[in-house]
Amino acid sequence: MLNKIGLIGGGNIGGVLAQELFRRNLAKTVALMDVKGPDLAKGKCLDIAEGSPIIGTDVRYAAGKDYDVLQGADLVINTAGVPRTKRPDGTIPTREELLATNLQITDQVAEGIRRYCPDAIVLSIANPLDAIVYRLYQKLHPPKHKLMGMAGELDSARYRYFVAQAAGVSVENVVAMVLGGHGDDMVPIRSCCRIAGMPATKFVDEKTLTDIETRTRKAGGEVIGMLGVGSAFVSPALAALEMVEAIVFDKKKIIATCALLEGEYGVQGLFVGVPVVLGRNGVEKIIQLDLTPEEKAAFEKSVAAVKKTADEVLAVA
Ligand code: LAC
Repeated sequence: MLNKIGLIGGGNIGGVLAQELFRRNLAKTVALMDVKGPDLAKGKCLDIAEGSPIIGTDVRYAAGKDYDVLQGADLVINTAGVPRTKRPDGTIPTREELLATNLQITDQVAEGIRRYCPDAIVLSIANPLDAIVYRLYQKLHPPKHKLMGMAGELDSARYRYFVAQAAGVSVENVVAMVLGGHGDDMVPIRSCCRIAGMPATKFVDEKTLTDIETRTRKAGGEVIGMLGVGSAFVSPALAALEMVEAIVFDKKKIIATCALLEGEYGVQGLFVGVPVVLGRNGVEKIIQLDLTPEEKAAFEKSVAAVKKTADEVLAVA
């Protein structure tokens, strides 16, 4: 259990996170900040706290519209920003199209963290994922192990779910890894996909796996299309909680994480999804995978997309 976990943004993902941080007793205090009024953050926390006698948790909360509630947090989860949502004409924007709006919000987030919890480990979820993490780095310059983004764990979970369905086995039997940026060029790593330790191709034919990988790349959009308003929020929150638990309990768990690369995978100075060891210090190690030539080419394409959005971030003062 940490002393204090801060949560920036009490929307759909933030709401599930707040509830689960309480339920799982991950911190003595959960601090929720949201600018929306009349006092969304306090209302959400009061609602959860009033249920706490039923689930048996004594987690306390601090909540409000100002960043000061984050004072002294050990870990901060950033969900602040607008989500993707279906347009009236039925089309779905890319995550990158959220950049201009969410960059402004991120600059306020960075300032709040700088003032109230500069030493916190920061886990960011807002989109476009890799670019927002890059912006936080540009503004805060924390030690690289203390800043990361959540995307690969979600994308990998989607891949695992689809593979489990196709193979007719438990989701618990499937391990998988989706790397690169959290955009339509993300890279499901087939050579890492195993079912109870066996290659996935033993259970699922190549064509079906290719279809699953295509579906995985578009999985966020698939949910948006069905919801009508907003984007997926339960699975993203659960994926972030997997990372939070790895940190809180110092698990040394290998999780696909958006982390700063300084030469690994031939990438310099960009935040990209790669396997890392997560523990109490955050990103404790970056793992270098041996990719097949096809996977390497797909990874490089995804990195090029991440770099394009990062360059757009740099263009904004
Ligand atoms: C998704 C959003 C959260 O992939 O990026 O659903």
